[in-house]
Amino acid sequence: MLDAAEIDRLRSEFNDALSRATTEEDLRLARDRYLGRKGGVVATLMKAVASAPADDRPRLGRLANELKREIEARIAERRATLETERPIADAVDVTLAGREIPLGRRHPLTFVRDEIEAIFTRMGYEILEGPEAEDDYHNFEALNMPAEHPARDMQDTLYLATPMVQRAEALSSPGTRARPPGPEQPATLLRTHTSAMQIRYMETHEPPVRILALGKVFRHDNPDLTHSPMFHQFEGLVVGEGVTMADLKGTLTSFVRELFAPDIPVLFRPSFFPYTEPSAEVFIGCVFCRGNGCPVCKRTGWLEILGSGMVHPAVFEAVGYDPERYTGFAFGTGIERVAMLKYRVDDIRLFYENDLRFLEQFPF
Ligand code: DAH
Repeated sequence: MLDAAEIDRLRSEFNDALSRATTEEDLRLARDRYLGRKGGVVATLMKAVASAPADDRPRLGRLANELKREIEARIAERRATLETERPIADAVDVTLAGREIPLGRRHPLTFVRDEIEAIFTRMGYEILEGPEAEDDYHNFEALNMPAEHPARDMQDTLYLATPMVQRAEALSSPGTRARPPGPEQPATLLRTHTSAMQIRYMETHEPPVRILALGKVFRHDNPDLTHSPMFHQFEGLVVGEGVTMADLKGTLTSFVRELFAPDIPVLFRPSFFPYTEPSAEVFIGCVFCRGNGCPVCKRTGWLEILGSGMVHPAVFEAVGYDPERYTGFAFGTGIERVAMLKYRVDDIRLFYENDLRFLEQFPF
């Protein structure tokens, strides 16, 4: 006969069974036994309720439903605990091979730039960047490149659209030196070399100067093996009292030897730049043929690596330095050029294409 005591007995029997269920399999068996639709303890109980005397049915039905809900809740609760306690070895196959996480790396130009910065930082240089959109004054005029200088031609320089008229006016009246533009005046071109930063720095700082400016420069060139309309340069400038050509030679010799190899031959050859006098091109022994002569060095055994020279007095005058008191040297070149020689890259365009087959060859 079904009565409340019988329902309590079923409850304590269930509690015992549940406390013995320590695995998911035990729990599944307990669930089938108590909640199984056919012949499960609860289903049987419900049938017994249905056939109980009409007077007892509502009360027994309520107690039976309570027990059913209790059993469902406790089974769900136990399942949740078993899942969180499940040993890791069951959840994860520790014998599987690990998944490789690919590691990013520095772009070769970034790496070379970092190396150049590190060498000059050790020599006490201040590292600068400066604006890519420049004005005519800082890029040309103050660097002793007057209005008729060929580099200012639109074939070589990328001018920015808006102030073209101003520039045309300035060029149409040769001989009148353009007034140095103030900071309020708009940029008129994309800088063609980082030498523009010499002027910006000296305008706002008194000597002694020891700076290295790095960044993007732009030229009106069609891309080919050795040309790109955008590339990177670095520019060094040292100014003080008694700075000589010997300082220039010593500095640049130790720079290229640190960058390439301690025993690499270095050669200085007279050259011309409007902003230096005297000027010198710096060559290193060809890294491809070790000086024996090959197509890359055009059979000379030497590769040009830097332009340099003693700062022209006209440049000092433009920035208000006394050329009788101060002397200095400057140098500059392309970061791509250095990277191409150092890593034997034969096409400058490879640096900008982001082809992983190229980039992954570099070990940094
Ligand atoms: N501005 C030159 C270029 O773009 C590089 C250069 C040559 C910089 C001589 C200098 C220098 O400071 O003295 O190729």
